[in-house]
Amino acid sequence: MIAFWLKLWQLTRPYKGRFILGLIFGVLSGLADTLVLLTLAFVFGVVFIRTKDANIDQLLSKLPKLLASAFVQAQQWMAGLLHAGSNGTLLVVVSLVPLVMLGRGVCSYLASYLMGWVAVRALCDLRARLFEHLLNLPFSFLTRNSTGELMSRVGDVSVLQNMIGVSMVTIIKEPISILTKAAIAFQINPLWTVIALVGFPFCVIPVVVYNRKVRRAGAGIQTEQANLNRVMHESFTGSRIVKSYNLEKTVVDRFKANQAKFISHYMRVIRSTESPGPIIEVLGSLGVAVLLFYLARDTSAEGSFLFIGALVSMYSPIKAVIRLQSELQRTRAATSRVFELLATQSTLLEPPHPAPLQAAGCAIQFDHVSFSYGDRLVLRDIQLRVEPGQMVALVGRSGSGKTSLTNLLLRFYDPTEGAIRIGAVDLRQASLRDVRAQMAVVTQEVILFDDTIANNIAVGLPGASRAQIERAAAQAFAHEFILEKPHGYDSIVGEKGTNLSVGQRQRIAIARAILRDAPILVLDEATSALDNEAEKIVQKALDELMKGRTTICIAHRLSTIQHFERIVVMDAGQIVETGSHAELLARGGIYQKLYTLGSTLDGSIP
Ligand SMILES: Nc1ncnc2c1ncn2[C@@H]1O[C@H](COP(=O)(O)OP(=O)(O)OP(=O)(O)O)[C@@H](O)[C@H]1O
Ligand SMILES: [Mg+2]
Repeated sequence: MIAFWLKLWQLTRPYKGRFILGLIFGVLSGLADTLVLLTLAFVFGVVFIRTKDANIDQLLSKLPKLLASAFVQAQQWMAGLLHAGSNGTLLVVVSLVPLVMLGRGVCSYLASYLMGWVAVRALCDLRARLFEHLLNLPFSFLTRNSTGELMSRVGDVSVLQNMIGVSMVTIIKEPISILTKAAIAFQINPLWTVIALVGFPFCVIPVVVYNRKVRRAGAGIQTEQANLNRVMHESFTGSRIVKSYNLEKTVVDRFKANQAKFISHYMRVIRSTESPGPIIEVLGSLGVAVLLFYLARDTSAEGSFLFIGALVSMYSPIKAVIRLQSELQRTRAATSRVFELLATQSTLLEPPHPAPLQAAGCAIQFDHVSFSYGDRLVLRDIQLRVEPGQMVALVGRSGSGKTSLTNLLLRFYDPTEGAIRIGAVDLRQASLRDVRAQMAVVTQEVILFDDTIANNIAVGLPGASRAQIERAAAQAFAHEFILEKPHGYDSIVGEKGTNLSVGQRQRIAIARAILRDAPILVLDEATSALDNEAEKIVQKALDELMKGRTTICIAHRLSTIQHFERIVVMDAGQIVETGSHAELLARGGIYQKLYTLGSTLDGSIP
């Protein structure tokens, strides 16, 4: 619990001026609450001076001398004026109540305003920090956690906003109001107060009992919310599959099943939040009943407005504090995952003093590299040297580890054993930014942002001019189809590029890589989605692009890489053959088999 408060404090620290001011106004509004009660008593005392309330005098006798005499003098002065028949004074006296109310209103408004001001900023900071943290976590983390879940974790942060914005005011204001009222009641008559409050210690019991339930159910709510988001995210992004396989009902049923769980957790929270209130009211009224019973027998006892007023007006703040308890438990439950995620360490460590990395003119060296995603080894003892400017083709069966090899080069993952070096620098000694800045990548799966075509190409070189973008597009043979789009380069591509054909997306990705102009080029089936004709054209563009760059090109269609100086054949995570097309064919190994198979499938032997 203390750790939780410390975290809250840290969140609000950048805004501590307003935060503290908010706390001060919270204190003031708590005090003002009691002041309203005192003013009412004072005004009643003045107006009904004939039935002068003995208890106010008792109370006054315990106030500091100066304050008490000022109070009495003011009262007498006004009463004197009143008896003199001045209606104006009566007006002044009765308007004291709205005046104090106004004071209380201003304090409580300012407290809520300032806390809200701090809360929304502190929480946006936290959300941005979480988002940045998650984005900087390695690829492996992001692929392990579903998008829907991660999104709802970032959304969970808003629960904290309510905590800081609303509950902080309650935490400060209500206890002060309760304590001052209890003090007043106690001053008037300690014995009665104790009798009236005898039920309150028992109030703590339901709070303690329900706290744990609320926390557990609160965590449940958040989990189900994440599940709902996951189902929705998957279904909307996979709507093509959902529709073509008639999965709508299945998905909706899954959604409803999640909602049913959500409802049961939610109802548990409602029960736990709402039960203590009535229980406390019953216990409290029990105290009042005992008091009345006592008063009925004690004929000398006189009812006191202030006393009864103080006791009765304590209920609502007590209820608020108790309700706050469950709010707090829910918040803790909802945010524990947020803080857990923030504490997740990256497995890809940035070196404290990164070595400068310049790939131009440097060879890439895979030095006895082994790698596994979990316990299954997908790359075994890879030994490969790619000279600067050399073009190497990587071929092999599906699942043989080609993409994994390039994942290591991009440092999405670190090798389990061995090292990858560019020039003399181990990738682990360079900064991640530097490593990735050396490479341009075109992959099997093209990722486009829901933005204009021009902006999607400019991803390769942020800040590129329109002329540069168009030149790159022309080189990627994308210029013509882009101009045919309704808004040309300013056409929106749709989420993940749905407004474009797969081949068009791929050409945009190639334009990106052209614009990036990096010394190392990684092509992972960059032309796999193009038809034969388009492929020939784009291949030309790629050939242009590869000139002078160190290139690793993964290809399924062997016809596209025959002219490569070096072809590396992988099988089951190992390099099994290397050589030129002619050499490998002559050897009659796996390459030769793949080649004859591919040629017959293509139906054409080049
Ligand atoms: N994120 C991952 N987590 C666990 N295993 C993975 C992951 N990605 C790939 N694999 C496994 O690693 C092996 C190599 O996969 P990889 O993607 O490198 O193959 P590939 O040669 O690129 O195949 P393809 O030609 O089909 O693209 C496969 O058996 C695959 O199941
Ligand atoms: Mg692959």
